[in-house]
Amino acid sequence: MRIVKILMFSIGTLLAAALVIAVALGINGWNTLHGRQAHAIPALRIAPHDSSIARGRHLAEVQCVACHGSNARLPLSGGDHNLLEGSPLGVVHGSNLTPGGVLAQYSDGELSRAIREGVNREGRAMLVMPSGDLHGLSDHDLAALIAYMRSQPAVSREVPRLNLTPMAYLLLGLRVAETSVQHPIEQPVPHPTEDMTAAYGDYLATLLGCRACHGKALDGRDREPFTPEGPDLLKLASAHDLGTFARAVRGGRAMSDGHEMAPQMMPWPVFARLSDTEIGALYTLLQSRARR
Ligand code: HEC
Ligand code: HEC
Repeated sequence: MRIVKILMFSIGTLLAAALVIAVALGINGWNTLHGRQAHAIPALRIAPHDSSIARGRHLAEVQCVACHGSNARLPLSGGDHNLLEGSPLGVVHGSNLTPGGVLAQYSDGELSRAIREGVNREGRAMLVMPSGDLHGLSDHDLAALIAYMRSQPAVSREVPRLNLTPMAYLLLGLRVAETSVQHPIEQPVPHPTEDMTAAYGDYLATLLGCRACHGKALDGRDREPFTPEGPDLLKLASAHDLGTFARAVRGGRAMSDGHEMAPQMMPWPVFARLSDTEIGALYTLLQSRARR
């Protein structure tokens, strides 16, 4: 009998300890998300002009639409889907970024901080917003995006508010899930020359999120957690020509065996809008890395 009592007591103590740890981690996760970030609001006033609006529109239609557009189309009137769908983590939607949505409350400096540093207007760390990919966005492209966003029609459309489960806060507390927060940007970020070079390809591969799924070095390793498993692009690009690469990225036909790729896995319907120069730059990057 005594041994049973000791056993019950030990199990009880262990369960209580686990509960205390889980609650502490959850609180830590809550603070990670809802604690105020010390990032200053950059001093920035964007004077829009026609050419930058066109560039901004293009960037928005190959990047932001995936989460902030209805049906992955412009304008950026808010995403249709819960971006955490299929996970036990809760609800987060891409915001309505037209003058009829949250955009109206944002200053240009606050937009800069949200896009490149992952901190929203209230100073809260954001989730799922890919500020890691956008951290290197040039000042020129940032201004173009802001000019475009402000030029959109005002669409009044409500998207559901952020609502996370205790499990999400636990994972944030454990640092298994990360927020979007990046280092503050304090220096000017120069714009790369837009040509078919590896340097421009490198800029685009980060901006377009290729590395999140295909790995930091695009070789299929060192990928971000919770993303579709993209294959090794260096090996594929060294075995296939530019036309085959373009058909894969813009048309959804795999280079390897020509099968049609699912847009939920490889978001090619959005990349279908990439220009020949952009496709060429990405291909040059892969070729130059494959040769090393
Ligand atoms: C992978 C999905 C995804 C992509 C791609 C994306 N965003 Fe976001 N974005 C989000 C989510 C989700 C939020 C809200 C996050 C939160 O509240 O924690 C957000 C929030 C924002 C906010 C703050 C809005 C608010 O509700 O306060 C801005 C500004 C923003 N995004 C701009 C952009 C721009 C510009 C691009 C393209 C260059 C972009 N986003 C691409 C998912 C995305
Ligand atoms: C959301 C994750 C994701 C992003 C972002 C992404 N990919 Fe993919 N990609 C995949 C997955 C998964 C596959 C494999 C799909 C299949 O085989 O059906 C793939 C397949 C490919 C293929 C064909 C590979 C083959 O087997 O022939 C190419 C080429 C490619 N991606 C290039 C890119 C480029 C370039 C970018 C950035 C502009 C990019 N991908 C962004 C997930 C992604």
